[in-house]
Amino acid sequence: MKILKLGVLVSGNGTNLQAIIDKSEIGEIPAKVVVVISNTEEAYALHRAKRHAIPAFVVKPKDFPDKRSYEQKMIEILEDYDVGLIVLAGFMKILSPHFIETFRNKIINIHPSLIPAFCGKEFYGMKVHRAVIDYGVKLTGATVHFVDENVDSGPIILQKAVEVEDDDTAETVALKVHQIEHQILPEAIRLFAEGRLRIVGRRVLIER
Ligand code: GAR
Repeated sequence: MKILKLGVLVSGNGTNLQAIIDKSEIGEIPAKVVVVISNTEEAYALHRAKRHAIPAFVVKPKDFPDKRSYEQKMIEILEDYDVGLIVLAGFMKILSPHFIETFRNKIINIHPSLIPAFCGKEFYGMKVHRAVIDYGVKLTGATVHFVDENVDSGPIILQKAVEVEDDDTAETVALKVHQIEHQILPEAIRLFAEGRLRIVGRRVLIER
C-alpha cells in the first residue's frame, strides 16, 4: 500500500505527534510524518520531530504582516513536502477558510472532548478538562474530525469516551483523555490512508 505523507501542525508537548510517529515506525499505520510545523519555538513537539529526523519548522503569525501571508508560508511548506493529509495535533491556532479550502477534506483535528460538548473557540487544552470537572459530567472523551470553516464543527470520524470518576481532577481527566487520543488519532489516520472514509453530509461513513 502507498504510504500517506503527513504534515503535522503542533503548538505544545506533542504526545499525539509521538503516538503517530511511533505507530508509523512500527508499520501499524500506512503513513509517515514528513514535516512538522509549530506556531511557537517553545513547543516540545519540535524536539520529538528532531529526534526522529523529521523536518520541523516554526512559522509564527507575528513574523508576518497578516494572517494570509502567515498561512501562505505554511501552505508552501506543506505543498513542498507533498503532504496527503494535514493533522492538527494540539495546534492552537484557528485556520482561515482560505487555508481550509486549499486542503479541502484533507485536514483532521483531535479535540479533547466528546464534540459537540465542550468545544468551540473557548475550549482548548486544559480548559476543556477544567470545564468537564466544573460541569460534573460523568463521561468525556476525545473526537477526531475533519476540519471545516467553523471551530470544532467538521464531520466526525471517530470518538471514544472515558468515565469521570469522583476522585478525578482536570489533570487526571487530561491523562485519561490523552491515552485514548493516542489510539483514535492514529486509527483515523489509518482509515484515511486506506481510503475507507466517506463523507456524506455531516456523517463520515467507514467502509469495512
Ligand atoms: C490534546 O489533548 C488535544 O486534543 C488538544 O491539545 C492537546 C495536545 O496534546 N487540542 C485542542 O484542545 C485543540 N482544540 P499534545 O501536544 O500532547 O498532543
